Amino acid sequence: MKHIVALCVLFATVDALYRNVVYFHEWSPLTNNFTVMDMDASRITHINYAFAYPNDNGTLWFEYPDTAFKRVYGQDLGPTAVQGNFGQLNEFKRRNRHVRVLLSLGGWGYNDIFVKIAANSTLRGIFVKNTVTLITNLGLDGIDIDWEFPTSSTVNDFYSLLQDFRTAFNQLPFTAEITIAAGSSNDWGSTQVKKVCEIVDSVNVMSYDFSGPFWSKVTSHLANLYTDAKAPNGIKISVNSTIQFYVQQGCPSSKVVMGLPIYGASFENTNGLYESFSKPTQGSHKPDGYWDYKSLPFPGMREQVDTTIQATYFYDSTKKMFVTYDSPATVQAKAKYLKDNSLGGAMFWEISADAPSGSNRSLITTLYNALGAENMNTALNNIKYPTSIYSNIRAEESSNSSTNQSNVHPMSPSNTPNSATNLKSSLTTAFFITIAFLL
Ligand SMILES: *[C@@H]1O[C@H](CO)[C@@H](O)[C@H](O)[C@H]1NC(C)=O
Ligand SMILES: *[C@@H]1O[C@H](CO)[C@@H](O)[C@H](O)[C@H]1NC(C)=O
Ligand SMILES: *[C@@H]1O[C@H](CO)[C@@H](O)[C@H](O)[C@H]1NC(C)=O
Ligand SMILES: *[C@@H]1O[C@H](CO)[C@@H](O)[C@H](O)[C@H]1NC(C)=O
Ligand SMILES: *[C@@H]1O[C@H](CO)[C@@H](O)[C@H](O)[C@H]1NC(C)=O
Ligand SMILES: *[C@@H]1O[C@H](CO)[C@@H](O)[C@H](O)[C@H]1NC(C)=O
Ligand SMILES: *[C@@H]1O[C@H](CO)[C@@H](O)[C@H](O)[C@H]1NC(C)=O
Repeated sequence: MKHIVALCVLFATVDALYRNVVYFHEWSPLTNNFTVMDMDASRITHINYAFAYPNDNGTLWFEYPDTAFKRVYGQDLGPTAVQGNFGQLNEFKRRNRHVRVLLSLGGWGYNDIFVKIAANSTLRGIFVKNTVTLITNLGLDGIDIDWEFPTSSTVNDFYSLLQDFRTAFNQLPFTAEITIAAGSSNDWGSTQVKKVCEIVDSVNVMSYDFSGPFWSKVTSHLANLYTDAKAPNGIKISVNSTIQFYVQQGCPSSKVVMGLPIYGASFENTNGLYESFSKPTQGSHKPDGYWDYKSLPFPGMREQVDTTIQATYFYDSTKKMFVTYDSPATVQAKAKYLKDNSLGGAMFWEISADAPSGSNRSLITTLYNALGAENMNTALNNIKYPTSIYSNIRAEESSNSSTNQSNVHPMSPSNTPNSATNLKSSLTTAFFITIAFLL
């Protein structure tokens, strides 16, 4: 009698649930005629509101308070309501229950203030309390800390700040998220990287700005996926190297979110890639060399994609200008990378500069389509803020009479509670099916 044992091992990978995070600029209604209601909710999971800035006494402030709190959209909701961006976000959240809105704290230039607050437990307490008051008044779902950047000498204090936030958020009657915007690398050491990754919901890596018209020595790519073997000495950075930095330091890949630019950087008086250039004199909003993606490539220019390293650019030989950015082609490659490496999703800076969401140029839509609607993290946001000082945030029903509560967003999230969805999202499951045949 002959026994043949065949062992079949079948791997079935269940896709993780991805975030598609977009930054919304407080000032985009002013600079880009782009309001909260202009965002296409169906393609996004999180909005990071940029910014609430910290003061060194632990209070927070907004740069354009009228745009943030007062501007009337449609019907005037009256003096007891918050209007402006936050009034619209309240409405937006009720209409799009799968979109969570986080308040981004900080941004470039606030390192000294964060250092001071984080080092002092009294100040930390004041800062955390003020932030919690803000998000519960404004009807938000958590925070995104943009401290640029904690170093090995301040990372312990950063961790204490994160702990204080987590403790305070655990007292809230809803799930409040904590995410951070992280630099392309850091000097924290893997123990600290692991601790930070453990306490936050996601680490949004700023895997862009690899070159800049103010500080680069020669022209180079803004956000190439892979390192270019042909690059001059010293230019070794890539999306892959910055993402792998966090993974290799012990950050769970499901918490690592890839940052993508929705803008281009231009270099003037240059002969092309890896060449010298002069200081910027042009740009979409200022003469700073930065362009809204939707205006690229310039009319008549041919977009070029280096498919070896996944980088998009064009060169205007008349103007002698080199422009580097991401296009649908490179975003598709990045989406594949993101899936192949089981990352937590994508983060875009920033939504008002994207091409219309329905066009095939939209970077946000390209990414969303590549990841697949069914793979998005659609955990429900919170819309119950009974203690808010604003009548429209407190209200059980929308205060906007032009709104219909029965409006359901097109993505149709399951009614899975936050915790269950988060558990699922942190899991890439492998099923092993072992079949033994006895002959
Ligand atoms: C701003 O955008 C709206 C549509 O969202 C449009 O109706 C209006 O004309 C625009 N205003 C300007 C000044 O471009
Ligand atoms: C905190 O500092 C800011 C900026 O200096 C100031 O405007 C505000 O009044 C201060 N608040 C308190 C409570 O000290
Ligand atoms: C109220 O609803 C209208 C119609 O959808 C919208 O245009 C407007 O922005 C909304 N206002 C607020 C404050 O949400
Ligand atoms: C911590 O901050 C509090 C409140 O601003 C201040 O009174 C105290 O002196 C600070 N402590 C240190 C050690 O700086
Ligand atoms: C991605 O980055 C890792 C770590 O830096 C490196 O080992 C690997 O070779 C890179 N992959 C590619 C395709 O460049
Ligand atoms: C994108 O849309 C434009 C305009 O509708 C069309 O001409 C072009 O062929 C489309 N490109 C692709 C790759 O589908
Ligand atoms: C809201 O939608 C419901 C159901 O679709 C409809 O019966 C009702 O008339 C709508 N109300 C308004 C104010 O549009």
